[in-house]
Amino acid sequence: MAVPRITEAFRTGAGMGWHEHNEGVFHGCEKFFRPDYAANLVASWIPALDDVEAKLKAGANVADVGCGHGASTILMAKAYPKSTFTAFDYHEGSIKAARESAVRAGVADRVKFQVAKAKEYPGKNYDFVAVFDCLHNMGDPAGAAKHVLSTLKSDGTWMIVEPFAHDDLADNLNPVGRVYYGGSTLLCTPCSRSQEVGLCLGAQAGEMRLRDVVTSGGFKRFRRATETPFNIMFEARP
Ligand SMILES: C[S@@+](CC[C@H](N)C(=O)[O-])C[C@H]1O[C@@H](n2cnc3c(N)ncnc32)[C@H](O)[C@@H]1O
Repeated sequence: MAVPRITEAFRTGAGMGWHEHNEGVFHGCEKFFRPDYAANLVASWIPALDDVEAKLKAGANVADVGCGHGASTILMAKAYPKSTFTAFDYHEGSIKAARESAVRAGVADRVKFQVAKAKEYPGKNYDFVAVFDCLHNMGDPAGAAKHVLSTLKSDGTWMIVEPFAHDDLADNLNPVGRVYYGGSTLLCTPCSRSQEVGLCLGAQAGEMRLRDVVTSGGFKRFRRATETPFNIMFEARP
């Protein structure tokens, strides 16, 4: 069903927003990424960040931006019951599905889902902001970085989870890279292109390019915290 629309977008270069895709894309995305989050987010990604795990255990104010169906938010809410979570996505249908998932998971009391763009989401003084596999989908990821910085406490942390990629294209020509380049061409890059700025980072941007984007948004510290075969986790701090 989406093929004629995607074909047209390739011809015109106009891009195609995430919200314009079929329902199956949103479910498929959750099914693709959730297993890596379920296996690693609480067990190893958060512990790889400086100071964050202790804050989450004690009770922190957290934002999950570009949350999709909320898989990451719900996993964190279950693991850190003293913390409060607000998750944002510009796609209304995903926010509705995320709210329903939170009710089913029994965490609706400490998780809020709201429709908002990454450059505009409300709230201040977050201890921890996370973006899961979505920074590269945004039209203006540097603008989003600037906004994240303005909403974080001065000792806060931004965790950027991105698809695993090396800096050089030749090093990404492996089975994982092929999956991501396919998804990037059909979903991620057209999504970015459909938005303001339209930077089109793509799902295989790599650490050097991502560092540029994050530091151009005003973050002073940026490091690779950890990785799996499917994802790289970066820690950015003011
Ligand atoms: C690949 S999905 C990842 C969803 C979720 N974080 C996950 O890991 O399952 C990318 C998400 O980014 C969202 N998105 C794209 N551009 C956005 C923007 N400018 N502001 C907020 N969300 C955005 C899309 O609606 C979509 O839910």
